[in-house]
Amino acid sequence: MAEQKFVGTPRKATTHVNQNEGLIFEKSSPGKKAYRLDELDVPAVDAGALLGKSVRKDYGSLPELSEIEIVRHFTRLSTWNYAIDLGMFPLGSCTMKYNGRVNEAVSRFEGIADAHPYQPESLSQGTLGIMHDLSQYLIEITGMDAITLQPAAGAHGEFTGILMIRAYHESKGNARKKILIPDSAHGTNPATAAVVGYQVQNLKSNAEGMVDLAELEKLVDEDTAALMLTNPSTIGVFESDIHKIADILHAKGALLYMDGANMNALVGKTRPGDFNVDVMHLNLHKTFSTPHGGGGPGSGPVACKAILEPFLPSPVVVKKDNKFALDYNRPQSVGRVRAFYGNFGMFVRALAYTLANGYDGLRLTTEDAVLNANYIRAKLEGIFDLPFKTRSMHEVVFSDKLQSKNGVKTGDMGKRLIDYGFHAYTVSFPLIVPGAMMIEPTESESREELDLLIDALQQIAREAEENPNLVKTAPHTTRIRRLDETTAARKPVLRWKGPEQDGLTRDTPSKEW
Ligand SMILES: Cc1ncc(COP(=O)(O)O)c(C=O)c1O
Repeated sequence: MAEQKFVGTPRKATTHVNQNEGLIFEKSSPGKKAYRLDELDVPAVDAGALLGKSVRKDYGSLPELSEIEIVRHFTRLSTWNYAIDLGMFPLGSCTMKYNGRVNEAVSRFEGIADAHPYQPESLSQGTLGIMHDLSQYLIEITGMDAITLQPAAGAHGEFTGILMIRAYHESKGNARKKILIPDSAHGTNPATAAVVGYQVQNLKSNAEGMVDLAELEKLVDEDTAALMLTNPSTIGVFESDIHKIADILHAKGALLYMDGANMNALVGKTRPGDFNVDVMHLNLHKTFSTPHGGGGPGSGPVACKAILEPFLPSPVVVKKDNKFALDYNRPQSVGRVRAFYGNFGMFVRALAYTLANGYDGLRLTTEDAVLNANYIRAKLEGIFDLPFKTRSMHEVVFSDKLQSKNGVKTGDMGKRLIDYGFHAYTVSFPLIVPGAMMIEPTESESREELDLLIDALQQIAREAEENPNLVKTAPHTTRIRRLDETTAARKPVLRWKGPEQDGLTRDTPSKEW
């Protein structure tokens, strides 16, 4: 075998190789391969003659490594990740629940995983049946009349729902001008309304953190297209006057959009359709346990009442003569919002989750999620400030008011929690709570695990009193300590250019690249 000359950055042996893994480019040596092909047994083709100028000559600087080097590199990097399989994510609003292995097993069945979206309907009866069954269950769970599974995330569901509201008003001759949004809303709500071309009007919450009915009555007029309302809200509170809210809107011809991202606090207990919501989205990656990805692959089905059904994205799965089919003949549809039919793999997982639990199991899941949040609330109330005393549903929002007297902020305590082996809770959101510490344990966690989180937070509160600097400089046990978040946001370095392009040499230590 020819001698391989190593030209990558010479590295010294270090302790903890997993933690000190460098860039894959630093390991590269020209000529290294992770494959070996047999000798050609047919005449070689001249690519230039076939493809002319389209033949690529410059392949850029791609790393060249052997198979085991690649495997070790990515396996080592994977150990830097925090994951639900490693520990708890008490992230409020994000609902990071455990995704049961049965869902994964079902989604990998060959006939499901290998089905092609362009297979003819006659060969897609099973996959269309999965979409149809999931649609029927979600319609039943939400109490609505019709549904689309197309949107790829919660925010995408909002966009689809508001497009449908716009199409509905347009069909009546006036798209209307504004959408009302409470000040506790998730940032995606006002962004959605603006993208669909509506003005956003802010609705102030009352002392309980709910919609102020008198204020709502003042603001709703003939220009109001809808109210976008998260229920339970982002402070984990159920809008107990939701019926009255719907009545106020409907009296002026406006519609009620429910951001159903927090449906994990309602499933099996109450149905938005029954309290007169007109259209809503679900986050399958929150309520129905499908995995969260980095911006996808999520799924945000939109369920609506019959008045909005004509405007649903096309196509819609229908059942005719005992056969499933895709209905494209929808003249009032807002059009397609997603390639093919949505994130199909998520539908399979959500259906597996729904069937594995059954209606009673789903109700129990909701009860456990609410119980867990209230257990944390009861154990930590007094240690941390609780700005809204209204009963909590699936999440509880404290604030750093008591600790900030010693200069310790919510972000510091979130980072200190990492030293105790937990992912941080949600910091600084919702915006109506200054210094918010938003905790959502979900039903996945046992009482033992909740007690560990509570113990960690109690210790952090003690540290904030006795040794605030320890908390302010956390984390202390991670590979990287505090990042310069401003520079990371303002001047992100998203691409490795290579030392030559940066005017650095291969001898420059990697940290300076
Ligand atoms: C209340 C609320 N609305 C909307 C969204 C947006 O969902 P997605 O991140 O899937 O776009 C979220 C996400 O956490 C949420 O909590």
